[in-house]
Amino acid sequence: MSRPTLDQLTAALAGVNDPEIRKPITELGMVGELSLDDAGVARVTILLTVAACPLKETLTRDVTAALVGVAGVSDVQVTLGVMSDEQRAELKTMLRGGAPEKEIPFSRPGSLTRVYAVASGKGGVGKSSVTANLAAALAQQGLKVGVVDADIYGFSIPRMLGVSGTPTQVDDMIMPPVAHDVKVISIGMFVPGNQAVVWRGPMLHRALNQFLADVYWGDLDVLLLDLPPGTGDIAISTAQLLPNAEILLVTTPQTAAAEVAERAGAIATQTRQRVVGVLENMSWLELPDGTRQELFGSGGGAQVAESLTRLLGSEVPLLGQIPLDISLREGADQGLPVVIGNPTSPAATALRGVAKSLASRSRGLAGRSLGLTPTGR
Ligand SMILES: Nc1ncnc2c1ncn2[C@@H]1O[C@H](COP(=O)(O)OP(=O)(O)OP(=O)(O)O)[C@@H](O)[C@H]1O
Ligand SMILES: [Mg+2]
Repeated sequence: MSRPTLDQLTAALAGVNDPEIRKPITELGMVGELSLDDAGVARVTILLTVAACPLKETLTRDVTAALVGVAGVSDVQVTLGVMSDEQRAELKTMLRGGAPEKEIPFSRPGSLTRVYAVASGKGGVGKSSVTANLAAALAQQGLKVGVVDADIYGFSIPRMLGVSGTPTQVDDMIMPPVAHDVKVISIGMFVPGNQAVVWRGPMLHRALNQFLADVYWGDLDVLLLDLPPGTGDIAISTAQLLPNAEILLVTTPQTAAAEVAERAGAIATQTRQRVVGVLENMSWLELPDGTRQELFGSGGGAQVAESLTRLLGSEVPLLGQIPLDISLREGADQGLPVVIGNPTSPAATALRGVAKSLASRSRGLAGRSLGLTPTGR
């Protein structure tokens, strides 16, 4: 058998992505020395971004598999090294695409990422469950998706998406962990155990800013933010940091919840954000005989959609109704979103439908507020 060239080995390595950055290791400058001896043993040094890279086993396995697949390679020996300060600086510059540090990529003019802030008036209506499931469903549909857990005090996204461990930090750049093909960041990844976060407003703003500017998101189609309930500090910071974020309002069918949701949506007139639509959650419980029991009443979602359409002067659709579903709750507790764990369940079907309607408008500038104020004539 003829001996493969080093170019052929490099070409094989180009098929290996860094598990966190999700780009070929050859483009990231992670391939160091590469050689092949007469016995067909390939030796390669992989330069990790940081020595404590939690995914080095995955990387070693993927590199080995890629090289063993080349005809003429009998064995592979991977040595793990660490990038020098210069190499790391080069990598960060490349990942930022020449943009200056501390800039929020989603607020750059011309950013094609759709940003949806999942909000509600009242707590416990299902924002986080909706965020986790829409993210997983959009990723299943082939979109590149990121989730920011903007609920700093009440973070729940890591559990719902099944992410554990601390993100890798390359100097001041944070690599978001990936779960179900979704890039995720949450304050819960930085506090030990189940410790509470006790911060005042300005710290919340700084944390959100860091999640947006210091995390390496890459080129996303959709970014979802799971907001805390109400119209407090974080909702205001979101409007400031991400003026083109569109609000996705979650409510239950209950009149009281719907009224509070309306108020939350009405804030959009002040922040000049768009409300992309309303999602009614916990709409009914399907009983074994097929009848629907409306535990929280009915009509809340439609009511919010109608009154916001009137108030904002543009169509705010009711995007869907999600029934109560035990498997949704179980999935959230197990870190396996119901759209993946039990995809044929009623809640998963409804959530996928909403994801589909969001995916169909996933990229581009059409119909979006450019954050400009017309000057008077
Ligand atoms: N459709 C549903 N069927 C069954 N359980 C649900 C449904 N939606 C949400 N839940 C459950 O209700 C609880 C509250 O949901 P979730 O945490 O998503 O709400 P939230 O709006 O994010 O709450 P918070 O305001 O506290 O952030 C969770 O235990 C969740 O598993
Ligand atoms: Mg929540």
